[in-house]
Amino acid sequence: MVSASPELYCKNFSHLIQASAGSMSLLALFDGMPALTDVPSHPWPHHDQAERDVLLEVLESSSWYNGTKVKEFEESFAAMQDAKYGVACTGGTVALEAACRAAGVGVGDEVITSAYTFIGTCSAILKTGAAIRFVDIDPETNNLDIDQIEDTITSHTKAVMPVHYGGLACDIDRLQAIADKHELVILEDACHSWGAKYKDRGLGSWGLASGFSFQQSKNMTCGDGGIALTNNEAVADAIGCAINQGRSRYDKADPRLRWGSNHRMTEFSAAILLVQLSRMPEHTEIREQNAAMLTRTLSQIPGITPCTRLADATVVSWHVYGARYHEDEWDGLPRDVFRMAIASEGLRMEPGYPEPVYRHGVFQQDWANSEDIRPFPWAGEDWVQDYRALNLPKVERYCKERLGVRQAALLGDEGAMAQACGAIEKVWEQRGELLDAWRAGKIEGWDEEQVKRHKEKGKTQEALTR
Ligand SMILES: Cc1ncc(COP(=O)(O)O)c(C=O)c1O
Repeated sequence: MVSASPELYCKNFSHLIQASAGSMSLLALFDGMPALTDVPSHPWPHHDQAERDVLLEVLESSSWYNGTKVKEFEESFAAMQDAKYGVACTGGTVALEAACRAAGVGVGDEVITSAYTFIGTCSAILKTGAAIRFVDIDPETNNLDIDQIEDTITSHTKAVMPVHYGGLACDIDRLQAIADKHELVILEDACHSWGAKYKDRGLGSWGLASGFSFQQSKNMTCGDGGIALTNNEAVADAIGCAINQGRSRYDKADPRLRWGSNHRMTEFSAAILLVQLSRMPEHTEIREQNAAMLTRTLSQIPGITPCTRLADATVVSWHVYGARYHEDEWDGLPRDVFRMAIASEGLRMEPGYPEPVYRHGVFQQDWANSEDIRPFPWAGEDWVQDYRALNLPKVERYCKERLGVRQAALLGDEGAMAQACGAIEKVWEQRGELLDAWRAGKIEGWDEEQVKRHKEKGKTQEALTR
């Protein structure tokens, strides 16, 4: 048998699992029964007759755009997050871009953001013509490291865009103090923060403006959609202009901001979102309870550290439950071998982004010398961070250690979560056997079909493997 090196293994999940650690193994990866059995399925996205009814209602109303549903949704969602104004649009990226534009961010400016985020955070900033300055993260909280922000501020810095990653609030008070001191605005990437709160006030209502996403994987969704929130009427007006061809809602925006494109939300999307919104309180409560059980379990396991939740993060949406895998505590067992074992038990624990966002192709081009394609006005400017040379140590390490449990897997009942927690405990207890098989080269790699067959030994919860 050819055994893959750990490094190769991590990069390539297409090898076959050929391990068998003996006839008495408890691990589902080998001969044991999966820990998750007889658990009802929670497919995502969730919908029922209520979505069907409202879709039909809009269909037959002949008001598919610019009707009452979008307005009702804007008001209801803004109210849930304790913001005065909501402007619905086609996606979280667009919402963030409009928020940046409304804050006056543009050519010659720089926006500070986290190096651990989805590329959409960056696209929103780049589309305004501004440059990005990445800061390292605090691995405990999976959010940007507030201690490092002041050192990264330059004369070009206009805004900070914190990402409340997974719906875990950043330390907004500390961030605001820095922003006030340096006259910066805060634009919150709240794309994971539906229902989440800091000091009992909704995320997305703290900064000058914010953006939320309703793309299909999100805790509430219409397939693709977004909303920008703000408490400032002129900013709301400017955001509205950015997403609706410069049309002003409140006649308050700076005339220089009264232009835009068409990123309007349809009545169909708003109708679905109003139904999804009605489920948020119950779903958020279930995720909070399940996340609490997971945290209690992981706190007993030296090999995995759950994300730290600030005391002021009074409600967390748990879009993804984040944790860190400590390979040394597992005596060198690679994270992805653990992931394979836990998936066989019926619980999917995702690795997150393989690299910090500054490794994305857009940051790897030699823009200073690109003559025929010139999308970025900052290209070649000496004040711009050297993205190609960036190597922020904490985020680099975090990407190798991250484990995540997605929101749909946190929607089961207490029994389902107890089984999921039992699965983690079981793999931890059986780590010696797993390690022996790994070291003996009996585990070659990840094969989705093989994992599926293991799962089928029991009626494993489908949602836990999405
Ligand atoms: C942190 C973060 N920011 C921004 C976005 C962009 O949202 P959308 O895909 O709706 O444009 C996402 C989407 O996944 C995200 O996860």
